[in-house]
Amino acid sequence: MRILGIETSCDETAAAVVDDTGNGADAILGEIVRSQIDDHAPFGGIVPEIAARAHLEMIDSIIAETMRQADTDFSALDAVAATGGPGLIGGVIVGVMTAKAIAAARDIPFIAVNHLEAHALTARLVATAEAPLDFPYLVLLVSGGHTQLLIAEGVGRYQRLGTTIDDAVGEAFDKTAKMLGLDYPGGPMVEQLARDGDARRFALPRPMKGRAGCDFSFSGLKTAVRHALEALLADTAQTVPDKQAIADLCASFQQAAAEALIDRTRNAIGAFQLSHATALEGGGVLVVSGGVAANGALRQALEGLCAEAGMRLVAPPQRLCTDNGAMIAWAGIERMRLGLTDTLDFAPRPRWPLDPDAPKRAFAGAKA
Ligand code: KG4
Ligand code: ZN
Repeated sequence: MRILGIETSCDETAAAVVDDTGNGADAILGEIVRSQIDDHAPFGGIVPEIAARAHLEMIDSIIAETMRQADTDFSALDAVAATGGPGLIGGVIVGVMTAKAIAAARDIPFIAVNHLEAHALTARLVATAEAPLDFPYLVLLVSGGHTQLLIAEGVGRYQRLGTTIDDAVGEAFDKTAKMLGLDYPGGPMVEQLARDGDARRFALPRPMKGRAGCDFSFSGLKTAVRHALEALLADTAQTVPDKQAIADLCASFQQAAAEALIDRTRNAIGAFQLSHATALEGGGVLVVSGGVAANGALRQALEGLCAEAGMRLVAPPQRLCTDNGAMIAWAGIERMRLGLTDTLDFAPRPRWPLDPDAPKRAFAGAKA
């Protein structure tokens, strides 16, 4: 089975062709990700209108180039999949309309993919014959728009154990970076500067730590960074912090964010291992995905947590953790195998929670 996947829900215009006969990432025959970072950088964050226009401008040439790279003709496709939500609606509409047009012109099925499901299933795309990944498994999804803990029970079947009650963790990285005068997106810069910083210099909160359940909160941590910065500038009579202070703030923030994630994930592991005891081999698998999964300090802390819990940690390669077309094509393959295709009257969904039964939270499922 060979599927074209299209991703346009946030600030990457991406396409990929994936064939389900390949082993692990070999299944990806062609993939292009075009980041819009330069278009949004002057504004310090993503501007939805600019994003939608940039997707529209780029999508045709990106698909054509992806098909060339994959050496695939449209007549060789079994289906076309696109992110149907959640995400910035202007961008989602561009991807969905393009996919529908291809499906109609070629008379092949159209598949609307939930972007969160695609992140959760990426670990199965990179699984190999030697290291397979079966359901159920636990997922920590950490991106610029989402921070969630989910049990993946099967394709289309997720139990949400926790989500953020305010900001996503990637957003907290980005806002911290902005306060410190660093470029967008802030996560990679914060991580790099933190390497030369002293994480003990600033006492920052570990939001929700020690509380029952698996929900997250990051807006208080972001405010604490602002207060620490203001106090520092007042103490030193400076208008901008010196290089060492910036590094120390980055290190202190990163450690606080990682500890908060670890604490909530520990609770989720407890709940997962208890409810799925009979279905698990050993302690089971924890998958980490989303842009923040690229963070080395977080990965290291998760390795420690998994060793403690007897679990295997699966972290897809960085380029597949951030938004990409291969994860959409793969989710399309998983759905197509079960006969789960969509009709051309599918309406793009700005909100699309993976677990409709989970308690409502203000931001859950709202962004990509
Ligand atoms: O998954 P993604 O590419 O897009 C969304 O769906 O949001 O995630 C982007 C987020 C941004 O907030 C970015 O700052 C963060 O991932 N990020 C990182 C790192 N690399 C990217 N955060 C911390 N450390 C990193 N190395
Ligand atoms: Zn994403």
